[in-house]
Amino acid sequence: MKAILAIHGGAGKWAVDEKTYRDVKKVLEEALVEGFRVYRTGSSLDMITIAIEVLENSGIFNAGIGSTVDVSGSISMDAGLMYRNRAGAVAYAKYPKNPVKLARIVLEKTDHIIIAGDAADNLARKMGLEPHPGPLPRTLELYRNFMEKLRRGEKIESPFKKSLEMWLNIGDTVGAVAIDKDSVLAAGASTGGVFFKMPGRVGDSPIPGAGFYANECGAAVATGIGEYILLTHATLKIVEELCNNTLPGKAIEKILNVITSRFGSNTAGFIALDKLGRVAGLYNTRAMPWGYISEDGAVKILGI
Ligand code: GLY
Repeated sequence: MKAILAIHGGAGKWAVDEKTYRDVKKVLEEALVEGFRVYRTGSSLDMITIAIEVLENSGIFNAGIGSTVDVSGSISMDAGLMYRNRAGAVAYAKYPKNPVKLARIVLEKTDHIIIAGDAADNLARKMGLEPHPGPLPRTLELYRNFMEKLRRGEKIESPFKKSLEMWLNIGDTVGAVAIDKDSVLAAGASTGGVFFKMPGRVGDSPIPGAGFYANECGAAVATGIGEYILLTHATLKIVEELCNNTLPGKAIEKILNVITSRFGSNTAGFIALDKLGRVAGLYNTRAMPWGYISEDGAVKILGI
């Protein structure tokens, strides 16, 4: 089997200027190249973990360093990985700079699937993971501006529902799927969640079958409003379609149509990869930067 790695930087508006466009493209390329460097010796789990770590560290996307804030101005992050019938995830983690590394620890070193809240942070400390440095200035500025509007009594129509649209000038969740030389598939997601969420809120990204899913047929990851992705078991549905030999693009289209008809547009995006190495990315937002790399070395960036 030819190894392939595909990643995304989040569904959203991405109405970006030339510089942001270049930065986004550069980070996606770097994440693909770094993740794929190990394809000869490493697993699909290695590829996706490395790629997601690069995206988390970039500060460009809503994950890791670039994570958004909740109504109290604090960061809390979710991440999850699936590989060889195992999943590992962390929910509502505040301590680690790289929640994807903590998710991998849960997958490889525990008997559990999801570790949440303070216990996740304690585990991260115990395992010697680097601490998160706190929200970026641009995130705090967005938060302060929003709070200012609220204080002035400006009517803000359902802030939570609008949060994706507001935040996603920058972008949502990051994710990756891969197949390795042994034909084993993996999927992973990492996020700061949706802007202005309630403290304690957990989205789709640490939930297998919602934010991510992988089995012997294929792998899929989600981005967008977690509540809608949770309600539709979106990535499980996509991978089930892949087991019926549906093409990845068609499999995504099916669930995206359900999400759009139930919850509206500007709500979600997905990438999916099947066991034959066919890959697709589709979204109902204006954009979703995504790309892939395969053994011929070519890096493709799309969606922005
Ligand atoms: N898709 C990220 C979230 O809703 O938390």
